[in-house]
Amino acid sequence: MSQNGKKRYAMVGTGGRAPMFLDPLVETYGEVGDLVGLCDVNPARLEHYRRRLAEMGYHDVPTWDAAEFDRMIESTKPDCVIVTTVDAFHHEYVIRAMDLGCDAITEKPMTIDDEKCRAILDCIERTGRNLRVTFNYRWGPGPTRVRELIQEGTIGEIIHVDLDYLLNTSHGADYFRRWHREKDKSGGLMVHKATHHFDLVNWWIDAVPETVFGMGRLAFYGRENAERRGLEVKYDRYAGQDTVDDPFALDLAEDEKMRELYLEPEKHDGYHRDQNVFGDGITIEDTMSVLVRYRTGVVLNYSLNAYLPREGFNVSFNGTKGRLEYQEIHGSHIIAGQSTEELGEEMSWESQIVVHPMFGKAYKIEIEEAEGGHGGGDPMLQEQIFATSPKPDPWGRNAGHGQGAASILIGIAANHSFRTGLPVAIRDLCPKLGDASRLSDLP
Ligand SMILES: NC(=O)c1ccc[n+]([C@@H]2O[C@H](COP(=O)([O-])OP(=O)(O)OC[C@H]3O[C@@H](n4cnc5c(N)ncnc54)[C@H](O)[C@@H]3O)[C@@H](O)[C@H]2O)c1
Repeated sequence: MSQNGKKRYAMVGTGGRAPMFLDPLVETYGEVGDLVGLCDVNPARLEHYRRRLAEMGYHDVPTWDAAEFDRMIESTKPDCVIVTTVDAFHHEYVIRAMDLGCDAITEKPMTIDDEKCRAILDCIERTGRNLRVTFNYRWGPGPTRVRELIQEGTIGEIIHVDLDYLLNTSHGADYFRRWHREKDKSGGLMVHKATHHFDLVNWWIDAVPETVFGMGRLAFYGRENAERRGLEVKYDRYAGQDTVDDPFALDLAEDEKMRELYLEPEKHDGYHRDQNVFGDGITIEDTMSVLVRYRTGVVLNYSLNAYLPREGFNVSFNGTKGRLEYQEIHGSHIIAGQSTEELGEEMSWESQIVVHPMFGKAYKIEIEEAEGGHGGGDPMLQEQIFATSPKPDPWGRNAGHGQGAASILIGIAANHSFRTGLPVAIRDLCPKLGDASRLSDLP
């Protein structure tokens, strides 16, 4: 805590997601929170945010190269480190921050494989520090209403869940242009993306996963698939190419923020954010089906496809007293680095809940409208993170390391299952998850 009584935050990873935490600290929670340091491997992205903060009228925030992370902690003495780096490095900073006496907040996914997950849980046991995983989807009004209805017993005891997640050729394709296309950086979409979905199901049905079986493959993107369909792959990335006839092309130079955040910083780290979705080097799947059995007996049937004409999801819960269906339709969706305001109409987010009682007439449930990113989830979560007295959380939407682990472990187990063709027991991947059957019994 600063002498002025403000909680001190340092951030590592100053890419597209950083404003989710920086903006509320500057605009809304400046009285109670203080940003004391920024850290990244790329000096141009650090400079981008340093300048942006100055333009917002904020005090000068010192920046640090990633190699100087420990020095940043020692000299700025944050209470809490916010981790918004590439997924594969979350564990390094979470663990280091805790070993140096800080709490940590990490973007989802908590980490990308079981070894790193075990290392984080060991560190929490060793240090007693606190880790929050920012599952913003839980905070949207639609998902919250679903949780409320299930908790109230509207369809009785849940027996079976179906979740079909659709990523389109804008947002879905984007994962195949960026670092996310490499499994050792993101854990694949099973971890990077599905962590949201598995977390929602775990939380909706209040259950801990037990066994996972999955099949996945790269069926649409990648050179091999393109050439099999007779498409000629002419370039590795889009910059500098004639891409007028390529609907998958992304022009980083066209957008000021993309230019500043990714195109100009390339000279420092060689990272290309606009790789050809039909190029070489993709090691993740775009087509995935997974079965999960929970410790409560519930079975989840999940699918994720990343090349579809529309974006959103359908989830249905079959219970002893009826069926509940929830659908979200997302607009053309987000390109990282764009704000909600810039996206405007594109950000449109429609959702509906229909309840089918066992012997009664089906009816629709009203869902409140909410402003802000991810269906209104982002601002609600920001309030919980930064406010000194946040609103009560009757639906248990805040998540710590246990619940963070329960979600990624499904995707991690699915990745093992994709490789071996065998079912995987979550307990074998992470004994420290314990024996609880209810998610709400995990931190
Ligand atoms: N909750 C959500 O809805 C949501 C949305 C977008 C992103 N995210 C998460 O936010 C995180 C960041 O994603 P992004 O879209 O900002 O990606 P990004 O590529 O825009 O930014 C990642 C940043 O990490 C930095 N980095 C890379 N390696 C590093 C290292 N070893 N040490 C320190 N910094 C390093 C990069 O230079 C870059 O500035 C990811 O974990 C992602 O899963 C969450």
